[in-house]
Formats: sequence, C-alpha cells, structure tokens
Amino acid sequence: MPDGTTIIIANWKMALDVIESQSLTRKLVAAYEHDLRESRVRLALCPSYDSLSVVGQQLKNTQIALGAQDVFWQEKGAYTGEISASMLRALGVSYVIIGHSERRKYLHEDDQMVNQKIKAAFAAGLTPVLCVGETYAERTAGNTDLVIMRQVIEGLKGIPLTPERQLVVAYEPVWVIGTGQAIQPPMAEHSSHLIRQALIDLYPVAVVQQQTRIIYGGSVDEQNILSYISLPLMKGALVGGASITAEKFIPLLARIASYGHDAS
Ligand code: PGA
Repeated sequence: MPDGTTIIIANWKMALDVIESQSLTRKLVAAYEHDLRESRVRLALCPSYDSLSVVGQQLKNTQIALGAQDVFWQEKGAYTGEISASMLRALGVSYVIIGHSERRKYLHEDDQMVNQKIKAAFAAGLTPVLCVGETYAERTAGNTDLVIMRQVIEGLKGIPLTPERQLVVAYEPVWVIGTGQAIQPPMAEHSSHLIRQALIDLYPVAVVQQQTRIIYGGSVDEQNILSYISLPLMKGALVGGASITAEKFIPLLARIASYGHDAS
C-alpha cells in the first residue's frame, strides 16, 4: 500500500436504509468519477448489511470499493443472525471493519473475537480494518498506550501477513467518535507511532511498510481532515457522521483531492 494514496472509508453505521444508501451512492459515484478519479483518494463505502448487495451493484465498474461493517468468524453453520466472510466476498465486499468500538461496547466484542474475525476476513481474501482506541476513562487513567498496544497485538496474534494480505488499522479514540470534537493531531500522531511500533513488533518492517496502513477516525469532517491525513503515518480516515450525506462528504473528499494535488 505505500503508493501515496489516501484511503477514505465511509462507515455508514445503522444510519441509512436501502433507498437512502442507494441515493447517496449514486451521488458519490458521480462525484468520484467526475472529480476524484485521477486523484490519489481511494474510497470504500460500508453500508449496513441490507444495502450491501444494492450498493455493490452500483459500485460495479467504478473505482469505489465496497466494505462491510462487521463479519462473523465462522464460515457456515447454525449462527443465527451472522454473516461469514465468504458471503461478504460473494457480494463484492473487499474491506471489512472489525472491532469497532460500538461493537466492543454494545456487543461485548473482545480482542479474541476480533482476532478470530480478522483471521476469517483474511481467509476469504478481505482486507480487515482493525479499529483500536481508548475510552475516556482509559485515557484519564493514563492507559491509552497500553490499550492501543494490547488491541493491536491481541487482535493480530498468530496471524501472518502473507504477501497477498493488506491490513488497515484505524486509530479511533472512542471518546471523540460522533461528538463533533476531534482530537488534537499530535495525540493522533502519538497513537499512530504506537500502532506502527506494535506492527513492527509483529511483522518485518518491509511487510509493515508495504502491506499495512494506519488511518484516523473520530469526528473527521471537511474542516479537520487535512490535519490528520497530513500526519506522516496516517494514510487515510474512517469517517462516520460526515460520510452519510453528500453535502458533507463530497466537500470532504474534494478537500483531500486538492491537498493531494498540491502536494504532488
Ligand atoms: P464519526 O464516526 O466520524 O461519526 O465520529 C467514526 C467511526 O465511528 O468510525
């Protein structure tokens, strides 16, 4: 992935139904094809499960990738309500968000579950987007670094990065998600270095350089996006609230495209 591109992963959470997802996708495809096709901005859309198929059809023959918001670790069987990595793959999914803080909080996902999901995602040829980040209580207790290191190391434990695998790690400080109050870029930069260090503890440096990418998430918007993606180790962003309307998301993408252009 060290190709100078910036990836923007849109996490639509449970915000849009099929009709709304379809409508937003139509606008984004048009904007992307018109303004961003030649830029170094790569885009992945993660609608909710009910919209994956429809949005996947709309993204066919475009440069925009399809992503899912979660996956189950088993391949097939009696697991009511779950979806396997190969089922996602069959819908054209290429990225999957794993270990999002909302799932860790509301569904009690732990590092072991996250680890199994990452294994399953790789086995099906998907690119996992491993989400890590501290809560406010963990930060104020001085445990930020420990939590981030633990989530990366436990999440990836025993998982080799064979040459065809790509990994995205999203640093998302839990306490700023959805608040409109993003963290100071130096704090994000500090965490990106920690994540990089954890990855280097697990994998050869060349593999980390070529097959991994660290991104930032948490109240990213048009105004602050450049302050994160201009950090040396941040190669993109995971965007929630600002990605669910064309009015907010298209200007955000355009801002990155013009930055990439200026910098080249
Ligand atoms: P937010 O969400 O941009 O609305 O803070 C980001 C996320 O939860 O991935």
